[in-house]
Amino acid sequence: MKMNFKAIVSLSFTVVALSSCVTDPDSSGYEYMPDMYRSAAIEPYVDYGQVKERINPELAGKLSAMVPPFGSIPYFGTDSTMVALNMPFPILPNSAFKLTHDLRGFDFSDEDTYMLAANYTTNPLKLTAENADKLFDDGKVLYNHNCSQCHGEKGDGKGPMVENDLFSGVPDYADKKELSNGQMFYSIYYGKGAMGSHASIINKKEIWTIIHYIRKFQDENYGKFGEAAASTETTDAAN
Ligand code: HEC
Repeated sequence: MKMNFKAIVSLSFTVVALSSCVTDPDSSGYEYMPDMYRSAAIEPYVDYGQVKERINPELAGKLSAMVPPFGSIPYFGTDSTMVALNMPFPILPNSAFKLTHDLRGFDFSDEDTYMLAANYTTNPLKLTAENADKLFDDGKVLYNHNCSQCHGEKGDGKGPMVENDLFSGVPDYADKKELSNGQMFYSIYYGKGAMGSHASIINKKEIWTIIHYIRKFQDENYGKFGEAAASTETTDAAN
């Protein structure tokens, strides 16, 4: 019998379709192209317990996403200002932070580094007449998302966590004018007392942005340029 082309195609399709059926309800059936299901390139969140015919029992059921090797520098784009702002903070955390604030992957110092941070007066993210509005707008968003639950939207230490007796000992920023930019950074980045480290939550540029925003709670003229700038120079933050 002469079979036409259509019949051959549909017959082979039926054979292929039927042969992929298996009785195990948890099995996806025969994999015709296993490398489409299990990429040979390492990807996060893929189970590499089996790659093609090779069985890797030690990888089965494990996430392939791993913490980057120690010393890896996160990618912050190619903008040199952004990259410079995210370089390691030059003042190391004190060794006690290993225990008190569970910092991992940092080098430590036995010196009283919080006091060293007092001499670090410059906010490397320079505030100018041109960028002030944007910095304060960005700072407000970052602050309200990450800090206001304790510190309060007005920076008075009366956030909802405090008002509902879930947290205490949160200072009013108005009483913290003497803190240098370096000390603020140190405390936000590494943590202080009951406040945890924010190193894994916000990047360094974001911290410096928030610090400008906090300065505004301390001095309403902070970041105003021109005639309104009367008291801006009273804080070292304008450096
Ligand atoms: C879970 C509550 C909580 C959150 C969230 C929190 N803080 Fe704090 N913060 C505190 C407490 C408590 C202190 C007082 C620490 C001390 O002096 O022992 C403090 C102190 C500070 C200080 C003064 C540090 C010093 O050196 O005296 C600054 C600045 C600060 N926080 C900024 C921030 C910023 C910015 C954020 C958000 C990125 C933030 N905090 C998020 C609770 C919190």
